Amino acid sequence: MAANKKLLILAGDGIGPEVMQQVERVLDWYAKRRAIGFDVSQGLVGGCSYDKHGTPLTDATMGEAMGADAVLLGAVGGPKWDSLPFDKKPERGLLRLRKDMELFANLRPAIVFGPLADASSLKRELVDGLNIMIVRELTGGVYFGSPRGIETLPDGTRRGINTQVYTTPEIQRVARVAFDLARLRGRKVCSVEKANVMESGVLWREEVQKLHDADYKDVELSHMYADNCAMQLVRQPKQFDVIVTDNLFGDLLSDCAAMLTGSLGMLPSASLGAADARGRRRALYEPVHGSAPDIAGKGLANPLATILSLAMMLRYSFALGADADLLEKAVANALSAGYRTGDIMTPGATKVSTGGMGDAVLKELDKLAA
Ligand code: IPM
Ligand code: MG
Repeated sequence: MAANKKLLILAGDGIGPEVMQQVERVLDWYAKRRAIGFDVSQGLVGGCSYDKHGTPLTDATMGEAMGADAVLLGAVGGPKWDSLPFDKKPERGLLRLRKDMELFANLRPAIVFGPLADASSLKRELVDGLNIMIVRELTGGVYFGSPRGIETLPDGTRRGINTQVYTTPEIQRVARVAFDLARLRGRKVCSVEKANVMESGVLWREEVQKLHDADYKDVELSHMYADNCAMQLVRQPKQFDVIVTDNLFGDLLSDCAAMLTGSLGMLPSASLGAADARGRRRALYEPVHGSAPDIAGKGLANPLATILSLAMMLRYSFALGADADLLEKAVANALSAGYRTGDIMTPGATKVSTGGMGDAVLKELDKLAA
């Protein structure tokens, strides 16, 4: 197969580069063993870009991301850049990618792998077999709304302002993604907002309901307030199939759901834009965990979330479902074989480094392909 799939890798800061190194080994494996070639280029995002270019994302790199079939990102940020002005902060690079690529739908699966059920802070029976998909709206709401800023009032005190704002199309396009995903899973969507106190939440609820009644009657829709959802996630997480919610609540609830699985180091994500005429969507894939500066460069990081992000990329950007299954199976088998990085270590398991986990996944891929 021709190497015509353009992939931009932005490893970023902290543990980003070391987990991405393992992903590159997996990519090599796919090229050699499955003849799936990618045209891979590399770029900088976050603090490393700031250090080199004085900005967390250059226009040139932004341009490359726009032209790529998929972007794979490691992580951004770290204490070294915490005191930079707002527009230079590493996170701005990530937010610009999401905004300029119009990646409005952020898919965050929270899946508990059987061998890791005891690593959850909840009892095994509450989480064993858990498989939730959180769909977070990613380019609107209070993270992007205007007016925003910090202003000084006449009396010398200051006022910080952010605006929560959503329109019908913004709500309906992300809800559509959630309903479509639900059809491939458990056919249940729970829409989450704070309609009891926020007008934007009232609108959210009404628009999701309207879309449901028009196009998705075969999917079961429920509505829940965000605070209750946080509680239900730790009380009875298996009641959920697909959750769809706004940017802010999705940010919080997806971290909460992630922890149910026992390790943030296990969870991938996909951020998708609208499909173009050829059915191609702009897409960015990244692990949910951050840059973990405290363990960076020590070979301690868990590369599985980034490897599983690659699996999501194969599935959603390139329709290589069988190859995505293969990679997810290899990860599950590496865990079943007892390999663990420090974050998911349990007594009796075999502790491995970042590279050691990469070895384990490649070994399982070899076995599966044999
Ligand atoms: C996430 C992160 C980002 C966000 C930060 C790094 C800007 O927390 O992807 O959830 O808040 O969206
Ligand atoms: Mg977050």
